[in-house]
Amino acid sequence: MDVFKAISERRSVRKFKKMEIEDQLIYKILETGLWAPSAGNLQSWDVILINDQEIKQKLTTAAYMRDFISEAPVVMVLCANMHKSATIYNDRGRELFCIQDAACAGQNMLLAIHALGLGACWVGAFDEWLVAEAVVLPRHLRPVALIPFGYPDETPLPPPRRELDELIHWNKFGQEVCIER
Ligand SMILES: Cc1cc2nc3c(=O)[nH]c(=O)nc-3n(C[C@H](O)[C@H](O)[C@H](O)COP(=O)(O)O)c2cc1C
Repeated sequence: MDVFKAISERRSVRKFKKMEIEDQLIYKILETGLWAPSAGNLQSWDVILINDQEIKQKLTTAAYMRDFISEAPVVMVLCANMHKSATIYNDRGRELFCIQDAACAGQNMLLAIHALGLGACWVGAFDEWLVAEAVVLPRHLRPVALIPFGYPDETPLPPPRRELDELIHWNKFGQEVCIER
């Protein structure tokens, strides 16, 4: 699938068919995450893949009872690996780069999921502690997204986007610098 088509046609899918996903497809999706850019090419992220119904239910509870999470055949818990990024980049690695690495990988995987005829939704509203407890995370892994995915059972319409004019600022944004050092 053409990359522009994949980008514009990908939608957040929150209704899934009760169909298993072949392992081969799951690995193909994860491979696309690995090819994302990352700070120092450290690839400071990890995933936990959940197909156990009891753990999926705990994730649903952690995400304020969004039932579509436990209804997906697989849920990915995408984590920023703070320790890995901090070994080279210290605080900036721990607080920023590992999250950006995970987000870049996450977007690649969302696009791959769509291109393979599957659907997914990035879920960011959850209690981090409850997620950590559900999938037994060590302290250096920060969960940044839950990504339930599966064969789509809905075709959402594209939600509106901002006009480019509204967000592009050539050369400078404002009249005075107001960031304190
Ligand atoms: C950082 C982030 C957090 C999000 N959190 C949630 C969430 O908690 N629950 C949810 O249903 N969708 C969530 N979404 C999906 C957005 O609602 C969705 O991407 C947006 O409405 C645009 O729709 P589209 O993905 O179909 O283009 C999140 C997306 C991002 C990038």
